[in-house]
Amino acid sequence: MPLDTSSAEPLLKIENLKAWYAESQALHGVGFEVNKGELVTLIGRNGAGKSTTLRSIMGIVKNRKGSIRFHGEDLIGLRTFQIARKGIAWCPEERGIFADLSVKENLTLPPRLVQGGMTDEDLLTSFPNLRARASSGGTQLSGGEQQMLAIARILRNGCRFLLLDEPSEGLAPVVVKEIGNQIRRLKDQGYTILLVEQNLNFARAIADRHVVIEHGQVVDQLTNDELAADVARVKTYLGV
Ligand SMILES: Nc1ncnc2c1ncn2[C@@H]1O[C@H](COP(=O)(O)OP(=O)(O)O)[C@@H](O)[C@H]1O
Ligand SMILES: [Mg+2]
Repeated sequence: MPLDTSSAEPLLKIENLKAWYAESQALHGVGFEVNKGELVTLIGRNGAGKSTTLRSIMGIVKNRKGSIRFHGEDLIGLRTFQIARKGIAWCPEERGIFADLSVKENLTLPPRLVQGGMTDEDLLTSFPNLRARASSGGTQLSGGEQQMLAIARILRNGCRFLLLDEPSEGLAPVVVKEIGNQIRRLKDQGYTILLVEQNLNFARAIADRHVVIEHGQVVDQLTNDELAADVARVKTYLGV
């Protein structure tokens, strides 16, 4: 689906976002936009502020200032459950699989928030490994299966804007490729995705656009074509 750049307001518009952990400031005025249907990555080194940006959008980091507009409405004053009900789902870096629960239980535990979420049957069809492991315990899964489960779990709640925090982290290349295919498929289904990544090859393979974060600020933004034409530009930021 071609991007409609003529539409007035981006789906998500962040301006001058600052965030703190106690006294320590982690974000120093982050600003970027995500249009409906786009797959945008946040890239940058360890500690740059990528996860904090996602947690600030979600209201999990509460000590934040600036503006985070979603569908034109500011999320800064809202609490996490209210933000989720606006249609934003978050898949955390640590995945958050409940070890004592089965795959099926993990999948069906979160409430449905917005109409139109995937049915349990849709999910098991989209993620065949999960169907095969439905009654296995959370910890019996491989890292890749846990990541699939963490992503699948947020598709049930009906949210159409997904925040995915380093889904490729710690996984073997063949599994990373499979996760990439799944994420690409979600984009094709019309989801809007903000993806945190340090794996440049993974980011390049699936994203439309990239936002580079350094020391809690956006230092560069480029389309996937611009990245392809000048990979060195981004490698400098990542220090690779
Ligand atoms: N829970 C926390 N408490 C205090 N400082 C934190 C916490 N989480 C992250 N930080 C700090 O905030 C900064 C940004 O971290 P983070 O957003 O996790 O980076 P990234 O996801 O880009 O690796 C880092 O300096 C990190 O040490
Ligand atoms: Mg992180």
